[in-house]
Amino acid sequence: MSETILVTGGAGYIGSHACKALAESGYTPVTYDNFVTGWHDAVQFGPLEEGDLRDPDRLAAVLTRHQPVAVMHFAALSDVGAASRDPGLYWDNNVIGSLRLVEAMAAAGVENLVFSSTCATYGDQDGVMLDESCAQYPMNAYGASKRAVEDLIRNFAAAPGVVLNHVFFRYFNVAGADPDARVGEFHRPETHLIPLALDAVRGRRDKLTIFGQDYPTPDGTCVRDYVHVSDLIAAHILGLEHLLNGGASDVFNLGTGRGFSVREVVETVARVTGEPVPAVDGPRREGDCAALVSGSVKAAEKLGWKADHSTLEQMIATAWAWHQRPGYER
Ligand code: UFG
Repeated sequence: MSETILVTGGAGYIGSHACKALAESGYTPVTYDNFVTGWHDAVQFGPLEEGDLRDPDRLAAVLTRHQPVAVMHFAALSDVGAASRDPGLYWDNNVIGSLRLVEAMAAAGVENLVFSSTCATYGDQDGVMLDESCAQYPMNAYGASKRAVEDLIRNFAAAPGVVLNHVFFRYFNVAGADPDARVGEFHRPETHLIPLALDAVRGRRDKLTIFGQDYPTPDGTCVRDYVHVSDLIAAHILGLEHLLNGGASDVFNLGTGRGFSVREVVETVARVTGEPVPAVDGPRREGDCAALVSGSVKAAEKLGWKADHSTLEQMIATAWAWHQRPGYER
């Protein structure tokens, strides 16, 4: 019988790709999702349990029913701009939700946790290449909420009588879609650069606004390290198997080590789609760091991870195929 993995946020962008990869790797992914930002048609690869992380009774019932060997915890709000406007929402959903999850896991004896953290926990560090030993100075409530969850997981793992083996993945900018186009990125409202640029190309929005042109970067626009969602999820399977094989708790950056400016992304979208991107310059967005680029090869060295699909062209091409598929609008 295949082992069960509880996937919180399994109906979302990254969680649904995780469910697909888990099913393809012989696991049974059980999606736990409250559908605030998730989509029912993204749940295709295993059972669904609708619920909110802040509902302890529901969580306890789901863990008892499915007896997972591990949890992959993706469920979170992740809009940097919204987090700056409404920090309480981010602390409640992301931190309190994670606290309830970890408490439920401890009570049910579920000992393995793969947690979706973020490079936003590092904050702006004058353009240094970020590795896992860098101090964490989040610049917005989203990054702060994720750093707090890292702390709470470590605290539980160190508590007497609790076994909580964990891998934290600090994501850089996740992009692209499943090459089979069964799942992809779809947020409403959409706030991320590549899907917004593709929406502008397709005429779903008038234009893309480039947020800030006076950052201390080569062309003045923000620099980010983009990683393909398929590569990102391949690391999660490696991290899961590391834990299931008795590996020690650890933290890994997931990025390619190559940064691209907003302008470079926009130019690549135009090249890949063959269409101009209607773009205008606008003011900075609250909470944005100038540059976030991974300087780590730890996931490659310790987990054997390779980012094989993470050229900007591959990410934009798979996202573009997903955007053009019938039914994209939902
Ligand atoms: N941007 C624009 N115009 C837009 C949207 C975005 O110029 O309409 C810019 C942003 O200012 C930023 C870059 O494009 O410089 C990328 O922005 P995204 O919103 O696509 O991504 P973020 O970098 O804000 O955030 C993403 C994830 C977070 C993660 C973070 C780490 O959403 O979960 O990367 O940087 F933590």
